[in-house]
Amino acid sequence: MIKLRNKIAPSLLSSDFANIESEVKKCENAGCDLLHIDIMDGHFVPNITIGPLVVSAIRPHTKLQLDCHLMISDPDKYVPEFVKAGADMISIHVEATHHLHRSIQLIKSFGVKAGIALNPITPLEYAINAAEYCDFIMLMAVNPGFGGQNFITSFLNRAKTLRNYLDNNGLDNVEIEVDGGVKLDNVLEIANAGANILVSGSGLFSGNFEDNVRNMKEILK
Ligand code: DX5
Ligand code: ZN
Repeated sequence: MIKLRNKIAPSLLSSDFANIESEVKKCENAGCDLLHIDIMDGHFVPNITIGPLVVSAIRPHTKLQLDCHLMISDPDKYVPEFVKAGADMISIHVEATHHLHRSIQLIKSFGVKAGIALNPITPLEYAINAAEYCDFIMLMAVNPGFGGQNFITSFLNRAKTLRNYLDNNGLDNVEIEVDGGVKLDNVLEIANAGANILVSGSGLFSGNFEDNVRNMKEILK
C-alpha cells in the first residue's frame, strides 16, 4: 500500500484579490504544493467568485498546479474553459451533474486530473462507486459557498471509511482532499483520518501566512 504524500493547498478565496499575483507568488515561495481555486456560480452555491478569465490570469505567474474546485451547476459546460485557462486538476460536485461518469470522463479526456466533490452529508456511496474513475475525491468539511466556516466533524469518519475502502480495493493511489475549516489545530487529526490534500483558506491566510504554512508542514511531518 502506498502512503500518499501530504500536500498543502491554500485556498485563494481567502487571499487578497486585489493583489492576486503577489498572493500566488507568496504561496509558491512558502512551499505550498498546489493552489486551490474556488469557482462559484451563485446557483449551485449562494455566492459568486471567479471564472476562467481569472484562472488564466493566474496561470503565467506560478508553476504550482491549479486545483479548480467547480461549485457550479452543469459543470460539463464549463470544463473545457477551465482546461484552456490552465487548470491541472478539476473537481466537480456530484450533486451538480446528472451523469457523473460522463462528467469525469470529460475532464479526463483533456488530460487533467479528475476529481469529484461531495457535500458533508452526501452519501459516501457516490465516492465509492466513482472511485475507480477518479484521481482524487474531495470530501467537504463545510457547506460549500464561503470561507471561514467551522469544520464539520463527521468528515473524520467519512474520510476513514473512504480511505479504508480505497486501500482495500486496489485504489490506494486515489487521493482524498479535504476542504473547509482546516486549521493548524485540527490538520493532524484530518490527515490521520486519511486526507492527504489539505485545503486551507482562513487557516493559512489569517495572521502570518509564511508562519502558518511552516507550522502546518511541521505538524504534518
Ligand atoms: C468553500 C470553499 C473552500 C474555502 C475554504 O466553499 O470550497 O475552499 O475557501 O475556506 P476555509 O479554509 O476558510 O474554510
Ligand atoms: Zn474549495
